[in-house]
Amino acid sequence: MTERPQAAHTDAARAVLRTNDRGGYTVPTDRLYPFQWNWDSAFVAMGWGIFDEPRAWQELHRLLEGQWEDGLVPQIVFHAPSDDYFPGPEVWGVQHDPPTSGITQPPVLATATRRLLDRTRDHAAAEAEASAIYPKLLASHRWWAEARDPGRTGLVATLHPWETGMDNSPAWDSILDRVPTETTSEIRRRDTTHIDPAFRPRAIDYQRFIHLVDLFRAEGWEAARMLRASPFRVADIGTNAILARAERDLLALAARFGSAADRATIEARLARAEPAIETLWQEAAGLYRSRDLIGGEILPASTSAGFLPLFGGVHRHAAQLAKTLESWLARVRYAVPSTDPAHPMFEPLRYWRGPVWAVVNWMIAEGFASAGQAAQATRIRADTRALIGREGFSEYFDPTTGQGIGGGTFSWTAAIELLLAEETA
Ligand code: GLC
Repeated sequence: MTERPQAAHTDAARAVLRTNDRGGYTVPTDRLYPFQWNWDSAFVAMGWGIFDEPRAWQELHRLLEGQWEDGLVPQIVFHAPSDDYFPGPEVWGVQHDPPTSGITQPPVLATATRRLLDRTRDHAAAEAEASAIYPKLLASHRWWAEARDPGRTGLVATLHPWETGMDNSPAWDSILDRVPTETTSEIRRRDTTHIDPAFRPRAIDYQRFIHLVDLFRAEGWEAARMLRASPFRVADIGTNAILARAERDLLALAARFGSAADRATIEARLARAEPAIETLWQEAAGLYRSRDLIGGEILPASTSAGFLPLFGGVHRHAAQLAKTLESWLARVRYAVPSTDPAHPMFEPLRYWRGPVWAVVNWMIAEGFASAGQAAQATRIRADTRALIGREGFSEYFDPTTGQGIGGGTFSWTAAIELLLAEETA
């Protein structure tokens, strides 16, 4: 594909969001993902914010329609039925209106809310929207702390690869090995009818994904029981770094809409999180890695999530992380591959095992920029725009050739184009 002029490209990005709009919420893409996804919506709201602020706020409100009483913001909100996706609401068996899945995803909502508020052109409206959302964010972060770190270690647990947002990362392989493959639900995958199975997770991985869903459903979707029962219990470096960032953004919102007690609680959580994230630093790898919370070991795969502490405001190893990035980029053409390209598990075309995701790039670039590593930030942003400019709004990209994979109308890729067009203007 030839490159399009940049203005035409931002028009095309807006058109993708409008096409994927289903009435106040945006599907990640038609057919493959026909509902509202948690972290997708947070990025997408930031994208809408560039040209339609009321629509951006609506995106967040619609996601929060799915919030549970205990504060959990679910991974998927099933606003309208669709046969195009498995597992649908009947497999999750969650009692909620609208129906939702029973797990969560990396928490980007507070970051989206703060950004929309800080950059608004309509201050009164944005104040009203953000103050209405603030208590829900507070409840969501309280849920993370109480449901997923009851021992106050400073690191929250994720209980399913889908909760990490990086579903098929090689970081989870050794943990998934101990998850049984029996399922009580019948597996009727739809993804492989939309996309080449060679790019998607394997059948055995899907059995394990659904085994966990069956197990949690049997535990009544009760947070403490799920935490105890799950054979998949990981301190994901990605989720913990994104949560640290979200806590900082929530703290800024608390200064405007919250109480002194709210601020003290958030500060106390941040004070625990930062040293805990530091325990995941791997000097020899020059990167942060996730930890198995059952066996206690650091997980062996180096993935792009390991750069995200920079986005979380943990800047101590910024110079080493810049070096690590350089060594990865000596082996591929485009930043940032999702797995270390020197690693034997690196697969440039398969889901989360090598390809580049625009949203992850946006966070890593933001992290390097805020840590004073401008060259890395510029490189990542330029590569991201070059990939989108060449291939369109693909779900992800091959870091060795630049090929776009997974269809050309992904909402969050379009949202990142809009953010980068503004930031690099
Ligand atoms: C896939 C991704 C996940 C994303 C979802 C919708 O499941 O792994 O991160 O939220 O698709 O785009």
